[in-house]
Amino acid sequence: MKFAAQRLRDGTDGAGTLWVSPGRVNLIGEHTDYNDGFVLPFALPHATAVSGVRLERRHWVVTSEQTGETVTFDLSEKVGGWAAYVAAVVWVLREAGVDVPGARLEIASDVPFGAGLSSSAALECAAMAVLADLAGVDGTGLPMRDRPRLAQRAENEYVGAPTGIMDQAASTLCQEGHALFLDCRSLATEQVPFDLAAAGLKILVVDSRAPHAHVDGEYAARRRACEEATAVLGVAALRDIDTDALPDALAKLDDDTTRRRVRHVVTENQRVLDTVAMLRAGDLRAAGPLMTASHASMRDDYEITVPQVDTAVQAALEHGAHGARMTGGGFGGCVLALVDEERCDAVEAGVREAFAVAGFTPPDTFVVTPGPGTHRFSR
Ligand code: GLA
Repeated sequence: MKFAAQRLRDGTDGAGTLWVSPGRVNLIGEHTDYNDGFVLPFALPHATAVSGVRLERRHWVVTSEQTGETVTFDLSEKVGGWAAYVAAVVWVLREAGVDVPGARLEIASDVPFGAGLSSSAALECAAMAVLADLAGVDGTGLPMRDRPRLAQRAENEYVGAPTGIMDQAASTLCQEGHALFLDCRSLATEQVPFDLAAAGLKILVVDSRAPHAHVDGEYAARRRACEEATAVLGVAALRDIDTDALPDALAKLDDDTTRRRVRHVVTENQRVLDTVAMLRAGDLRAAGPLMTASHASMRDDYEITVPQVDTAVQAALEHGAHGARMTGGGFGGCVLALVDEERCDAVEAGVREAFAVAGFTPPDTFVVTPGPGTHRFSR
């Protein structure tokens, strides 16, 4: 992240602009976003910085600090690889009527890649902020609350990944010290205070480092199963079924797998609402059992976990975590454990030990606190 920031500070990019968008973890509410449901993510301190300088010619010269590559494209090209996320944002802004000028962009990031922490949404949202800024479109011309839908459309229609809106909303709208309670139907938001330190708590992230296998196909299959269920049940989205109506809904479905998919989504929405109620009441520890129940539902009903993440959750709980769950799309990625400050080292050691016993690649572990959403980097 240093180089772009450093150049701006040094004044070598005096005409440029620099925006920062974070990765995210999701405290609870998995695979609910594309069901018009509820999610509760918070922004990571890890973020992607994009700096931009206008160019005369309408083309984009994009450098990644991580890969050392520079990719140049103009409007006639369909771009692939990591630069597709930037080209997708150029495309969607133009679709939205923004006259995007040519630009030289430099990207630096410390969001772990491929760990399910939304490195792609961070790139999309930071690129969107820079390009909107260079186009002279400020927060009034393109309000922050409208940007997640645009970034999601860029990812769905240009990149071709059928994701929901959670990651882009989290990266754009989160606030430091808060979790973002998002209604994925109305896009109404509430910033829910999430002051871990005041409660003597920590969130330990365990990156399972499990290889992501078949993740795109499995994600699309889960989404399809939900859509098929809504057709049978005669509702616009699974959001429209609450826990009281669940037994009747399940009775109308004759396939056991579909029943379990529906049960996950309906109960997960309720767990988000319950978690929000606990956080509003200042009882952060009470979120723990809800997180653990969420994990069980992802493992048994939605079937999106892998042995590494199940092992991490189990070991975290055995070593005193209040709750633990996989976060993100699944099939690998990260686990969150809610732990008392003084138990954090023991939980981490316990997870490492369990991985060693199982013969898994050692996990990466780090502690996170809720950081800010998209913001302009100020000198
Ligand atoms: C991925 C997608 C999100 C969401 C999660 C699962 O992160 O990008 O839209 O569906 O999976 O909750």
